[in-house]
Amino acid sequence: MKKVIPVILLIALLATCVFVSVKNKNYNTDEEFTQRPELAVVDNHSDDGRIIVGISMPDRLLERWNHDGTYLRAQFEKNGCEVFLRYANNLIDTQMNDILTMIDNGADLLVIAAVDGAAITPVLEIARSSNVPVIAYDRLIMDTDVVNYYVSFDNYKVGVLQAEYLIDALRLNHSARTRNIEFVTGDPVDNNARYFYNGAMDTLRPYLENGKLKVLSGQTSFYETSTSQWSTDLSQQRLQIILNSYYPNNARLDAVLCANDSTALGAVRALESDYNGSNTVYVTGQDCDVANVYNIIDGSQGMSVFKALQQESVVTVALGLSLLEGNTPGEDFISQSNWAFNCSYNTTDYFNGTKIVTSYLLEPIPITSKNIEKELFDNGYYRRNSAGLIYSAK
Ligand code: BGC
Repeated sequence: MKKVIPVILLIALLATCVFVSVKNKNYNTDEEFTQRPELAVVDNHSDDGRIIVGISMPDRLLERWNHDGTYLRAQFEKNGCEVFLRYANNLIDTQMNDILTMIDNGADLLVIAAVDGAAITPVLEIARSSNVPVIAYDRLIMDTDVVNYYVSFDNYKVGVLQAEYLIDALRLNHSARTRNIEFVTGDPVDNNARYFYNGAMDTLRPYLENGKLKVLSGQTSFYETSTSQWSTDLSQQRLQIILNSYYPNNARLDAVLCANDSTALGAVRALESDYNGSNTVYVTGQDCDVANVYNIIDGSQGMSVFKALQQESVVTVALGLSLLEGNTPGEDFISQSNWAFNCSYNTTDYFNGTKIVTSYLLEPIPITSKNIEKELFDNGYYRRNSAGLIYSAK
C-alpha cells in the first residue's frame, strides 16, 4: 500500500523538520532505525505481516515517561508487534521528526504523548495520508481530527484532588484564618496543564473570593503561574523570586499548589533556601516520583497524585491492538476487557479544537503520608530494597 505525500506539504514540513527516508527496511532494533537525509515518498505499512507500532514520548528526564515507554513497549511486543520508541527531549522539532521517521519506516499505529499538543498537527497529515491511526497518550493532541482516541487519567480531577487536599490541610472550612498560597502550574503547551489548573482553581476559587485564601504575589492566572517544560529549576527560580519579593521578614506562606512532582521538587528547594518562616508549607504534586515519595514521607511535600501508568498502558495497548484489527472500540470495550481497575468512557469533555476526541480515562489517587504505605507500598507499586531504599515497581 503506497501513498504519495503531496510535495508542498513535505516542503512545508521541511521548514521545521529534517525529513528522512528509509528505503532499506531491514531494520529490527532501535539502533538500526536510522535516518537518511533524503526526501522520498512514504511507503507505509509493511507488506510482510509485521505490525509496527511507533511510540513517541516527550522526554526522558521525567521518571514517568520512562515507565510509560517501558510498559508500552513490553506489552506491544508481547502481542507480536515491533516497537519503535523515541523520546523527544521536550523538543517539538525532534518529536515531529521522530513521528515522520516512524511513518516512513512503516508504522501501522502511532502512540503519541505530545510535547506540544498543537504543534505536531502538520505531521499528523502525513499519518492521515498514510492511513496510520493515532492514539493520543496522556496528553490530548489539539486542532486536528487526525487523532482516533485519547487515553489518559481524569486530568481535571487531578487538580481537584490537589485543591481538596489543601482545603483540608489548611482547615479552610473550619477556621476563620486567612492563609497565603502560591501557584506553580505546568507547561502551557501541554494541554493537560490547563485541565490541572482548572480543576484546582475551580475548587479553590470560593476561598480566594471569600478571602480565606490570599496570593501575596497576585499571580493567579494560568500563564503567569505556568512552568515551561515542567522544569524543576524554573519552578524553583520563580518561587525564590516570589519569596524574596512578597514574603519578606516574617510574612507567612501556607501552601504552594504545584501541578506535578517536578515542579514540586523546585518549590521544596526554594522553600528550603529562601523561606524564612518555620511553619509547615503544604506543597502538592502529581506522579509520585521516587524523590517526591521520600519528600512525602519526610513531610517536605504534603501530597502527590498517583496515576497507575501500567493501567494507562494496558488500556492503550488493548485499544491499539483493536484498532490494528480494524475495529472502532466504543463504550463496551471497557466491559469486554475485564480490567481489574476502573476506566471511564468519555465522549463529551475532550474537545481538541476540531473534534471531541473519544476518551478512556483512568482514576487518579491522592497520596499523603497517611495512605502512602497502603496505596503505594502494600499495593506493590513501590518497594524498599534490603538497604531500605525506595524504588518504583509501578
Ligand atoms: C502528565 C504529568 C506529568 C507532566 C510533566 C503531564 O502531561 O500528565 O503526569 O507530570 O506532563 O511531564
